[in-house]
Amino acid sequence: MPDTAIVTGGAGFIGSHVADAVIAEGRRAVVIDDLSSGSAGRVPSEADFEEIDIVDRDALERVFDSVKPSAIFHLAAQSSVTVSVKDPGRDCAVNVQGTLNVLECAGRHEAPVVFTSTGGALYGNDAPIPTDEQRIPAPVAPYGASKWAGEAYITTWARAGRLPHAVCRLGNVYGPRQSPHGEAGVVSIFSHRLWQGETPTLYGHGRPTRDYVHVHDVVSAMLKASGVTGVFNVATGIETDVASLYEMLQRAAGTKLEPKLAPLREGELERSCMDATRAERELGWKPAIPLSEGLASTYTALVEEFERGGSG
Ligand SMILES: NC(=O)c1ccc[n+]([C@@H]2O[C@H](COP(=O)([O-])OP(=O)(O)OC[C@H]3O[C@@H](n4cnc5c(N)ncnc54)[C@H](O)[C@@H]3O)[C@@H](O)[C@H]2O)c1
Repeated sequence: MPDTAIVTGGAGFIGSHVADAVIAEGRRAVVIDDLSSGSAGRVPSEADFEEIDIVDRDALERVFDSVKPSAIFHLAAQSSVTVSVKDPGRDCAVNVQGTLNVLECAGRHEAPVVFTSTGGALYGNDAPIPTDEQRIPAPVAPYGASKWAGEAYITTWARAGRLPHAVCRLGNVYGPRQSPHGEAGVVSIFSHRLWQGETPTLYGHGRPTRDYVHVHDVVSAMLKASGVTGVFNVATGIETDVASLYEMLQRAAGTKLEPKLAPLREGELERSCMDATRAERELGWKPAIPLSEGLASTYTALVEEFERGGSG
Protein backbone atom coordinates (compact mmCIF):
# COMPACT_ATOMS: atom_id res chain seq x y z
CA MET A 1 0.00 0.00 0.00
CA PRO A 2 1.44 3.41 -0.92
CA ASP A 3 1.76 6.06 1.79
CA THR A 4 -1.20 8.32 1.01
CA ALA A 5 -1.97 11.88 2.08
CA ILE A 6 -5.37 13.51 1.61
CA VAL A 7 -5.23 17.20 0.67
CA THR A 8 -8.59 18.92 1.11
CA GLY A 9 -8.79 22.12 -0.92
CA GLY A 10 -6.11 20.74 -3.25
CA ALA A 11 -7.71 22.45 -6.27
CA GLY A 12 -7.06 25.80 -4.62
CA PHE A 13 -4.01 28.05 -4.52
CA ILE A 14 -2.10 26.72 -1.49
CA GLY A 15 -3.54 23.19 -1.51
CA SER A 16 -2.35 22.52 -5.07
CA HIS A 17 1.23 23.31 -3.96
CA VAL A 18 0.82 21.01 -0.94
CA ALA A 19 -0.34 18.20 -3.27
CA ASP A 20 2.72 18.82 -5.50
CA ALA A 21 5.02 18.54 -2.47
CA VAL A 22 3.40 15.30 -1.25
CA ILE A 23 3.92 13.76 -4.69
CA ALA A 24 7.51 15.05 -4.84
CA GLU A 25 8.17 13.13 -1.59
CA GLY A 26 7.13 9.91 -3.37
CA ARG A 27 3.75 9.64 -1.66
CA ARG A 28 0.29 9.33 -3.19
CA ALA A 29 -1.89 12.47 -2.99
CA VAL A 30 -5.68 12.38 -3.02
CA VAL A 31 -7.29 15.79 -3.49
CA ILE A 32 -10.75 16.48 -2.10
CA ASP A 33 -12.36 19.69 -3.36
CA ASP A 34 -15.85 20.88 -4.33
CA LEU A 35 -14.40 23.39 -6.84
CA SER A 36 -16.37 26.24 -5.24
CA SER A 37 -13.35 28.55 -5.54
CA GLY A 38 -10.72 26.14 -6.85
CA SER A 39 -10.30 24.75 -10.33
CA ALA A 40 -9.68 21.18 -11.52
CA GLY A 41 -6.82 22.48 -13.70
CA ARG A 42 -4.76 23.21 -10.57
CA VAL A 43 -4.91 19.61 -9.28
CA PRO A 44 -1.56 17.94 -10.13
CA SER A 45 -1.98 15.36 -12.90
CA GLU A 46 -0.33 12.67 -10.69
CA ALA A 47 -2.89 13.21 -7.90
CA ASP A 48 -6.25 11.47 -7.59
CA PHE A 49 -9.19 13.84 -7.43
CA GLU A 50 -12.51 13.47 -5.58
CA GLU A 51 -15.03 16.24 -6.18
CA ILE A 52 -16.98 16.37 -2.93
CA ASP A 53 -18.17 18.88 -0.37
CA ILE A 54 -16.53 18.35 3.04
CA VAL A 55 -19.88 19.20 4.66
CA ASP A 56 -21.22 15.91 3.20
CA ARG A 57 -20.02 13.57 5.95
CA ASP A 58 -21.13 10.32 4.25
CA ALA A 59 -19.33 11.12 1.00
CA LEU A 60 -16.23 12.17 2.92
CA GLU A 61 -16.23 8.98 4.96
CA ARG A 62 -16.51 6.84 1.83
CA VAL A 63 -13.43 8.50 0.31
CA PHE A 64 -11.39 8.26 3.52
CA ASP A 65 -12.32 4.60 3.99
CA SER A 66 -11.29 3.66 0.47
CA VAL A 67 -8.08 5.75 0.52
CA LYS A 68 -6.93 4.81 4.06
CA PRO A 69 -4.77 7.93 4.44
CA SER A 70 -1.76 8.22 6.73
CA ALA A 71 -1.81 12.04 6.83
CA ILE A 72 -4.30 14.85 6.17
CA PHE A 73 -3.61 18.40 5.03
CA HIS A 74 -6.89 20.25 5.56
CA LEU A 75 -7.07 23.44 3.49
CA ALA A 76 -10.65 23.31 2.10
CA ALA A 77 -12.46 26.33 3.46
CA GLN A 78 -14.90 29.08 2.85
CA SER A 79 -12.07 31.62 2.80
CA SER A 80 -13.77 34.87 1.80
CA VAL A 81 -14.36 37.41 4.58
CA THR A 82 -17.10 39.11 2.51
CA VAL A 83 -18.96 35.83 1.91
CA SER A 84 -18.68 35.04 5.63
CA VAL A 85 -20.44 38.32 6.46
CA LYS A 86 -23.19 37.74 3.86
CA ASP A 87 -23.71 34.07 4.69
CA PRO A 88 -22.27 33.17 8.12
CA GLY A 89 -24.32 29.95 8.12
CA ARG A 90 -22.52 28.52 5.09
CA ASP A 91 -19.18 29.82 6.42
CA CYS A 92 -19.85 27.93 9.66
CA ALA A 93 -21.00 24.78 7.84
CA VAL A 94 -17.79 24.54 5.79
CA ASN A 95 -15.21 25.83 8.28
CA VAL A 96 -16.62 24.32 11.47
CA GLN A 97 -18.81 21.30 10.57
CA GLY A 98 -16.59 20.51 7.55
CA THR A 99 -13.48 20.62 9.74
CA LEU A 100 -15.12 18.38 12.35
CA ASN A 101 -16.06 15.94 9.56
CA VAL A 102 -12.45 15.84 8.32
CA LEU A 103 -11.21 15.34 11.88
CA GLU A 104 -13.62 12.48 12.59
CA CYS A 105 -12.83 10.74 9.29
CA ALA A 106 -9.08 11.16 9.95
CA GLY A 107 -9.55 9.59 13.40
CA ARG A 108 -10.95 6.41 11.81
CA HIS A 109 -7.53 5.91 10.18
CA GLU A 110 -5.35 7.39 12.94
CA ALA A 111 -4.13 10.01 10.47
CA PRO A 112 -2.83 13.31 11.90
CA VAL A 113 -4.38 16.51 10.52
CA VAL A 114 -2.64 19.79 9.67
CA PHE A 115 -5.27 22.54 9.60
CA THR A 116 -4.71 25.92 7.89
CA SER A 117 -5.98 28.77 9.99
CA THR A 118 -5.41 32.49 9.63
CA GLY A 119 -3.26 34.97 11.50
CA GLY A 120 -4.62 38.37 10.48
CA ALA A 121 -8.34 37.59 10.65
CA LEU A 122 -7.88 35.95 14.04
CA TYR A 123 -5.70 38.35 16.01
CA GLY A 124 -7.61 41.54 15.14
CA ASN A 125 -6.51 45.18 15.26
CA ASP A 126 -5.30 45.60 18.83
CA ALA A 127 -2.77 42.77 18.94
CA PRO A 128 0.87 43.63 19.68
CA ILE A 129 3.13 43.47 16.60
CA PRO A 130 4.56 40.94 15.89
CA THR A 131 1.79 38.79 17.36
CA ASP A 132 2.60 35.44 18.92
CA GLU A 133 0.34 32.43 19.39
CA GLN A 134 -0.39 33.27 23.06
CA ARG A 135 -2.51 36.24 22.02
CA ILE A 136 -6.21 35.55 22.64
CA PRO A 137 -7.94 35.84 19.26
CA ALA A 138 -10.34 38.75 18.71
CA PRO A 139 -11.79 38.21 15.23
CA VAL A 140 -14.07 40.86 13.75
CA ALA A 141 -15.67 38.79 10.95
CA PRO A 142 -17.48 35.43 10.90
CA TYR A 143 -14.57 33.96 8.87
CA GLY A 144 -12.21 34.57 11.83
CA ALA A 145 -14.75 33.10 14.25
CA SER A 146 -15.26 29.95 12.16
CA LYS A 147 -11.50 29.41 11.75
CA TRP A 148 -11.05 29.83 15.51
CA ALA A 149 -13.83 27.29 16.14
CA GLY A 150 -12.20 24.91 13.65
CA GLU A 151 -8.91 25.32 15.53
CA ALA A 152 -10.67 24.55 18.82
CA TYR A 153 -11.88 21.19 17.48
CA ILE A 154 -8.44 20.34 16.11
CA THR A 155 -6.62 21.14 19.37
CA THR A 156 -9.32 19.54 21.56
CA TRP A 157 -9.22 16.33 19.51
CA ALA A 158 -5.41 16.34 19.73
CA ARG A 159 -5.61 16.57 23.53
CA ALA A 160 -8.42 14.06 23.93
CA GLY A 161 -7.64 11.60 21.18
CA ARG A 162 -3.83 11.47 21.44
CA LEU A 163 -3.43 11.99 17.69
CA PRO A 164 -0.87 14.72 16.93
CA HIS A 165 -2.94 17.32 15.07
CA ALA A 166 -1.47 20.73 14.20
CA VAL A 167 -2.82 24.20 13.39
CA CYS A 168 -0.86 26.49 11.06
CA ARG A 169 -1.90 30.16 11.30
CA LEU A 170 -0.82 31.59 7.96
CA GLY A 171 0.29 35.13 7.19
CA ASN A 172 -0.54 36.70 3.81
CA VAL A 173 0.40 33.95 1.41
CA TYR A 174 1.53 34.81 -2.12
CA GLY A 175 2.95 32.83 -5.03
CA PRO A 176 2.18 31.19 -8.37
CA ARG A 177 -1.43 30.03 -8.99
CA GLN A 178 -3.00 32.62 -6.70
CA SER A 179 -6.18 33.91 -8.30
CA PRO A 180 -6.25 37.65 -9.13
CA HIS A 181 -10.04 37.59 -8.99
CA GLY A 182 -10.57 37.22 -5.24
CA GLU A 183 -10.86 39.97 -2.63
CA ALA A 184 -7.48 39.15 -1.06
CA GLY A 185 -4.30 38.01 -2.77
CA VAL A 186 -2.93 41.50 -3.31
CA VAL A 187 0.24 40.26 -5.07
CA SER A 188 -1.80 38.46 -7.69
CA ILE A 189 -4.29 41.33 -8.03
CA PHE A 190 -1.51 43.94 -8.47
CA SER A 191 0.40 41.66 -10.86
CA HIS A 192 -2.69 41.25 -13.03
CA ARG A 193 -3.23 45.02 -13.14
CA LEU A 194 0.42 45.76 -13.96
CA TRP A 195 0.41 43.08 -16.67
CA GLN A 196 -2.64 44.74 -18.20
CA GLY A 197 -1.06 48.21 -17.89
CA GLU A 198 -3.79 49.33 -15.48
CA THR A 199 -3.18 51.18 -12.22
CA PRO A 200 -4.07 49.27 -9.05
CA THR A 201 -5.79 50.83 -6.05
CA LEU A 202 -3.81 50.95 -2.80
CA TYR A 203 -6.33 50.90 0.04
CA GLY A 204 -5.50 52.69 3.29
CA HIS A 205 -3.38 55.00 1.09
CA GLY A 206 -0.73 52.27 0.90
CA ARG A 207 -0.03 52.37 4.64
CA PRO A 208 -1.55 49.10 5.98
CA THR A 209 1.05 46.46 6.76
CA ARG A 210 0.97 42.70 6.25
CA ASP A 211 3.27 39.73 6.78
CA TYR A 212 3.84 38.28 3.29
CA VAL A 213 4.99 34.66 3.15
CA HIS A 214 5.77 32.68 -0.01
CA VAL A 215 3.60 29.63 -0.68
CA HIS A 216 6.65 27.33 -0.93
CA ASP A 217 7.65 28.35 2.61
CA VAL A 218 4.08 27.67 3.79
CA VAL A 219 4.17 24.19 2.22
CA SER A 220 7.47 23.31 3.92
CA ALA A 221 6.03 24.41 7.29
CA MET A 222 2.93 22.28 6.76
CA LEU A 223 4.98 19.19 5.91
CA LYS A 224 7.07 19.70 9.05
CA ALA A 225 3.91 20.18 11.16
CA SER A 226 2.42 16.84 10.07
CA GLY A 227 2.52 14.50 13.04
CA VAL A 228 3.25 17.29 15.56
CA THR A 229 0.79 18.67 18.12
CA GLY A 230 0.56 22.45 18.40
CA VAL A 231 -0.54 25.83 17.07
CA PHE A 232 2.06 27.57 14.91
CA ASN A 233 2.27 30.97 13.25
CA VAL A 234 3.58 30.47 9.72
CA ALA A 235 4.86 33.86 8.68
CA THR A 236 8.07 35.89 8.38
CA GLY A 237 7.80 38.34 11.30
CA ILE A 238 8.52 41.11 8.78
CA GLU A 239 5.99 43.92 8.39
CA THR A 240 5.67 45.35 4.88
CA ASP A 241 3.36 48.21 3.93
CA VAL A 242 1.31 47.95 0.75
CA ALA A 243 3.09 50.89 -0.93
CA SER A 244 6.51 49.19 -0.47
CA LEU A 245 5.11 45.90 -1.74
CA TYR A 246 3.76 47.70 -4.80
CA GLU A 247 7.15 49.32 -5.48
CA MET A 248 8.93 45.93 -5.24
CA LEU A 249 6.42 44.45 -7.65
CA GLN A 250 6.85 47.38 -10.06
CA ARG A 251 10.60 46.70 -10.08
CA ALA A 252 9.89 43.05 -10.93
CA ALA A 253 7.41 44.07 -13.63
CA GLY A 254 9.60 46.89 -15.00
CA THR A 255 6.66 49.33 -14.81
CA LYS A 256 6.25 52.85 -13.41
CA LEU A 257 2.51 53.25 -12.89
CA GLU A 258 1.26 55.76 -10.31
CA PRO A 259 -1.25 53.84 -8.13
CA LYS A 260 -4.67 55.13 -7.11
CA LEU A 261 -5.01 55.73 -3.37
CA ALA A 262 -8.22 55.05 -1.40
CA PRO A 263 -9.28 54.76 2.26
CA LEU A 264 -9.14 51.44 4.07
CA ARG A 265 -12.16 49.23 3.36
CA GLU A 266 -14.47 48.22 6.19
CA GLY A 267 -13.16 45.38 8.34
CA GLU A 268 -9.58 45.62 7.01
CA LEU A 269 -6.74 45.64 9.51
CA GLU A 270 -4.23 48.47 9.71
CA ARG A 271 -1.36 46.26 10.79
CA SER A 272 -0.70 42.55 10.74
CA CYS A 273 2.56 40.76 11.42
CA MET A 274 3.24 37.50 13.25
CA ASP A 275 5.99 36.13 15.42
CA ALA A 276 6.96 32.71 14.03
CA THR A 277 9.69 31.79 16.53
CA ARG A 278 7.64 28.89 17.91
CA ALA A 279 7.66 27.23 14.45
CA GLU A 280 11.42 27.76 14.29
CA ARG A 281 11.94 26.31 17.78
CA GLU A 282 9.52 23.37 17.61
CA LEU A 283 9.38 22.51 13.90
CA GLY A 284 12.85 23.64 12.82
CA TRP A 285 11.14 25.81 10.19
CA LYS A 286 12.18 29.22 8.95
CA PRO A 287 10.97 31.05 5.86
CA ALA A 288 13.69 30.80 3.20
CA ILE A 289 12.42 33.07 0.42
CA PRO A 290 13.07 36.82 0.80
CA LEU A 291 10.13 38.97 -0.32
CA SER A 292 11.90 40.76 -3.20
CA GLU A 293 13.06 37.41 -4.68
CA GLY A 294 9.70 35.76 -4.12
CA LEU A 295 7.85 38.65 -5.74
CA ALA A 296 10.09 38.61 -8.82
CA SER A 297 9.66 34.87 -9.46
CA THR A 298 5.94 35.04 -8.63
CA TYR A 299 5.39 37.90 -11.09
CA THR A 300 7.06 35.89 -13.88
CA ALA A 301 5.02 32.77 -13.07
CA LEU A 302 1.73 34.68 -12.78
CA VAL A 303 2.25 36.45 -16.11
CA GLU A 304 2.75 33.05 -17.78
CA GLU A 305 -0.51 31.90 -16.20
CA PHE A 306 -2.38 35.07 -17.26
CA GLU A 307 -1.11 34.61 -20.82
CA ARG A 308 -2.39 31.03 -20.81
CA GLY A 309 -5.70 32.26 -19.38
CA GLY A 310 -5.11 30.45 -16.05
CA SER A 311 -4.81 31.46 -12.35
CA GLY A 312 -8.29 30.69 -11.13
N1 LIG B 1 -4.21 32.69 1.00
C1 LIG B 1 -3.92 33.17 2.21
O1 LIG B 1 -3.22 34.19 2.34
C2 LIG B 1 -4.42 32.48 3.46
C3 LIG B 1 -4.16 33.06 4.69
C4 LIG B 1 -4.60 32.44 5.86
C5 LIG B 1 -5.26 31.22 5.77
N2 LIG B 1 -5.53 30.67 4.56
C6 LIG B 1 -6.26 29.38 4.53
O2 LIG B 1 -5.54 28.47 3.72
C7 LIG B 1 -6.46 27.59 3.06
C8 LIG B 1 -6.24 27.63 1.55
O3 LIG B 1 -6.43 28.96 1.10
P1 LIG B 1 -6.24 29.39 -0.42
O4 LIG B 1 -5.72 30.77 -0.41
O5 LIG B 1 -5.50 28.32 -1.15
O6 LIG B 1 -7.77 29.46 -0.88
P2 LIG B 1 -8.50 28.81 -2.13
O7 LIG B 1 -9.87 29.40 -2.16
O8 LIG B 1 -7.65 28.93 -3.36
O9 LIG B 1 -8.59 27.26 -1.71
C9 LIG B 1 -9.63 26.73 -0.93
C10 LIG B 1 -10.11 25.47 -1.65
O10 LIG B 1 -11.12 24.85 -0.86
C11 LIG B 1 -12.17 24.41 -1.73
N3 LIG B 1 -13.40 24.33 -0.95
C12 LIG B 1 -14.12 25.36 -0.44
N4 LIG B 1 -15.21 24.90 0.21
C13 LIG B 1 -15.17 23.54 0.11
C14 LIG B 1 -16.02 22.48 0.56
N5 LIG B 1 -17.15 22.76 1.26
N6 LIG B 1 -15.69 21.21 0.27
C15 LIG B 1 -14.57 20.93 -0.44
N7 LIG B 1 -13.71 21.89 -0.90
C16 LIG B 1 -14.02 23.17 -0.63
C17 LIG B 1 -12.21 25.46 -2.83
O11 LIG B 1 -12.84 25.02 -4.01
C18 LIG B 1 -10.74 25.77 -3.03
O12 LIG B 1 -10.16 24.93 -4.01
C19 LIG B 1 -7.85 28.04 3.49
O13 LIG B 1 -8.24 27.22 4.57
C20 LIG B 1 -7.65 29.47 3.95
O14 LIG B 1 -8.62 29.85 4.89
C21 LIG B 1 -5.13 31.26 3.40
